[in-house]
Amino acid sequence: MRVVLKFEAVYQVEAETLAKSLRIPLVAYDQAPTSDIDFELILDHAGLSLRQQSLERDATQPGKRKNKTDNKNKADIRCDFISGELRHRRLYGGGKNQMILKATGLNKHKPSIMDLTAGLGRDSFVLATAGARVTMFERQPIVAALLVDGLQRLHTAGDEQEVTIAERLTLHEGDSLNCLAALAESEAPDVIYLDPMFPERDKAAKVKKAMAFFHHLVGADDDAAALLPLALATARYRVVVKRPRHAPPLAGLIPGLCFEGKSTRFDVYPLKKMT
Ligand SMILES: C[S@@+](CC[C@H](N)C(=O)[O-])C[C@H]1O[C@@H](n2cnc3c(N)ncnc32)[C@H](O)[C@@H]1O
Repeated sequence: MRVVLKFEAVYQVEAETLAKSLRIPLVAYDQAPTSDIDFELILDHAGLSLRQQSLERDATQPGKRKNKTDNKNKADIRCDFISGELRHRRLYGGGKNQMILKATGLNKHKPSIMDLTAGLGRDSFVLATAGARVTMFERQPIVAALLVDGLQRLHTAGDEQEVTIAERLTLHEGDSLNCLAALAESEAPDVIYLDPMFPERDKAAKVKKAMAFFHHLVGADDDAAALLPLALATARYRVVVKRPRHAPPLAGLIPGLCFEGKSTRFDVYPLKKMT
């Protein structure tokens, strides 16, 4: 997979640091993507975003590829906690009745939570909005960079309430499996939350834009089943796993309780009554 970093000239220093840490080449902001590029990471006045290049063979020039952006994937992916969908959900999203809050116990308690598969941090943000301190882990370096960018903007551009939410969120870049294995008992969280990549769905199913990006960038999280036994041995009160509604339970372990929505299910593995 080939990724380049495009940047507005004013962000040259930040772009050089990021490109070095991600080990990807830098290209000029106005440079047209070449046919071998899978993703462009873009650093500009709006922050960091990711654009997938959908390339098609140009029938008029055999052997050459035409750069054509798929309409469905036109918009870029960014981590945005301040506007759009997450803002709407924070203000009007059903409050304590949200399934994720019932599943994690946040409708009645304020547990500390570890999100072992943070992705773009949407679920962690919802949990932190409800009052939880959330420690997030993300191992895919580009996804982690998008998340760092979103968290930075939440800290610097958010209103008072958003800054309070930002202060509840901590990100660790790296594999949660290793971190969990090395965790001291005194550091164990009340709740562990898991949302590994869903297995590839059949072609007929409509995969949301963000999900399609993730499938290409992150892969299938084939090792996800290993997280659950470790999570169960670590959490104080419960482990929660987000699954597609009709998917089998992770690692074949039957949950004690399920919250089912239209397309998603939260499998709850209670360990001890929350107080
Ligand atoms: C489906 S996404 C999570 C989406 C997230 N819940 C959200 O609301 O944005 C799964 C993410 O978990 C990450 N991941 C999977 N296994 C991991 C592990 N062992 N350690 C850290 N990150 C992991 C993947 O890189 C991917 O970005």
